[in-house]
Amino acid sequence: MKKPTKVVEYNLEASEFNWDIAPGRTIEAWGFNKQVPGPVLKANVGDTLVIRVTNNLKEPTMIHWHGLRIPASMDGTGATQKPIEPGEVFEYRFVVPDAGTFWYHSHFNETVQLERGMYGALIVEDIIDPVSDGEKVFMIDDMKLNPANKFTKPGWFVPRIIERHDGREGNTLLINGKENSMIDIHAGQTERWRFINSSSARYFMLSLEGKEFKIIGTDGGLLEHPRTVTEVLITPGERIDIAAGPFNEGESFPIESLGYNRSTYLTAKRQTFATINVGERKPSIAFIPETLRRIEPLAKQDGVITRKVKLSVGPSFKDGMDFLVNDDIHVNDKPVKVGELQIWEVSNTSLMDHPFHLHGFFFQVIEENGKAPEYMAWKDTVNLPPRSKIKIAWTPDNRPGTWMYHCHILEHHAAGMMATFNVIDGDKPTDGMISNQAHHHH
Ligand code: C2O
Ligand code: CU
Repeated sequence: MKKPTKVVEYNLEASEFNWDIAPGRTIEAWGFNKQVPGPVLKANVGDTLVIRVTNNLKEPTMIHWHGLRIPASMDGTGATQKPIEPGEVFEYRFVVPDAGTFWYHSHFNETVQLERGMYGALIVEDIIDPVSDGEKVFMIDDMKLNPANKFTKPGWFVPRIIERHDGREGNTLLINGKENSMIDIHAGQTERWRFINSSSARYFMLSLEGKEFKIIGTDGGLLEHPRTVTEVLITPGERIDIAAGPFNEGESFPIESLGYNRSTYLTAKRQTFATINVGERKPSIAFIPETLRRIEPLAKQDGVITRKVKLSVGPSFKDGMDFLVNDDIHVNDKPVKVGELQIWEVSNTSLMDHPFHLHGFFFQVIEENGKAPEYMAWKDTVNLPPRSKIKIAWTPDNRPGTWMYHCHILEHHAAGMMATFNVIDGDKPTDGMISNQAHHHH
C-alpha cells in the first residue's frame, strides 16, 4: 500500500545573518531562512518537492541535494546549471524516489558557503519506516573561528597548506548550529536519530559514552538488519540513522566523537558535541524489526571491473599538494550508459583518508580490500582509508546528463579531487552535457 503522493513546497532564502552558536557567541553566518542549519525539509516517498531558492547573498550560489536520485538538471552543480546570481530565484523541482536521510548544501564556493552554514537536512519518509517514539535530526559541524568569533581565512602559507592537506577542522563543535546543546529524551523510549556529517573535513566517530545503539540506516535508507554497536564512523557527507534508547530516568551522557586518526597533521581527540538528558519515563510504542527490508546484491564480488578510479596526492608548485583523480585534477571521466551495470574499483593510494561521494546514484560496496563487506547497504559516500581499495557496484538508471564524483573533504574537492562524467542514453544526443574534451581547470 502506498500513500497518495503530493506536491510539497518550500521557500529557501540564502542570506547573511547573525547566528548565536552559544549564548553571547555570535557568528556572521550564511545560510537558509536565517538559521543554521536551514529548515528540515520533509516529504514522503514519491512526493514532488518544489523548492524556490532566493539568493540574497552577495555572491552566486547553487544547491545540491546530496543523495537524492533526481534528474541531472536538478543536481545543483556547475555542470548542470548556471549559478543563481545575487537577487535571482531558482526553482528546484523533483520527485523524491527513496526514503532516507538526505541533505542539501551549497555547491558553489563550498569551502566558504558550506563552512558558514549553507546546509540543511532533507528527510524522506516511507510507510515501511520502523516505528519509533520520536525522531531527531543531528547535523554535525565544526566551524573554525578566531577569538573574535570571525571566520578565519588561512592567510599565511603554513595554515593554508595544512588546510589544503587536511581539510579545515574547526574549533567549535556544533550540533544543529549550536555548541553544548542539551537534548531531551524520555526514559523507556526509543527514538530514531538521524546523523548527518556536514563538516568540511571532520571525521565523526559517534559514541554515546559507550552505550549500545542500533544502526538502522545509512545514506540510501534502511539497512537489511539493525546492527548493535557502541560506535560508528560518520565521514563528511555520510549519514547514519540509529535507534537510540531506551535509557533510564535521570541519566545524562554526551553525544561525543571518539578520536579517529585519519593520518593527517591534525591529531584526533575525544570530543563532546552535546549532552543527552533522560527525563521522566513514558510508555513506548517503538518497534525495530530484525529485518528492516531486503537489499538485493547488484553484482558478485568477482564481477568484471568496468572502471578504475584512483585517488592520490601529488606535489604542486603553487599549493604544496594537488589532490588527484587518476593522476589528474578536475577530471572529465568517460561516460557510462543507461542500464549498464558499473563495477568501479576505487582506490586510495595516498596516506590519508578520503570520503568518496557519487552524485545522484546509490552504489553498493561489494568488496573492501579483497574481502566481502560485512553487511549490505545503499551508499552515496564511502570512506577510503589510506592505501585501501574497494569495489562499488551501481547501475545508471534512466537519468542522462552530467554527474560527478569527488572527495567530500571540501578542500580536497576544491583542490582537484573530483570528476564529471556523462550518463548517456544509447545514441541519443547529449545536448547540454559537458563534452569529454573540455577540461575545467580552476
Ligand atoms: Cu555533498 Cu558534490 O556533494
Ligand atoms: Cu580527500
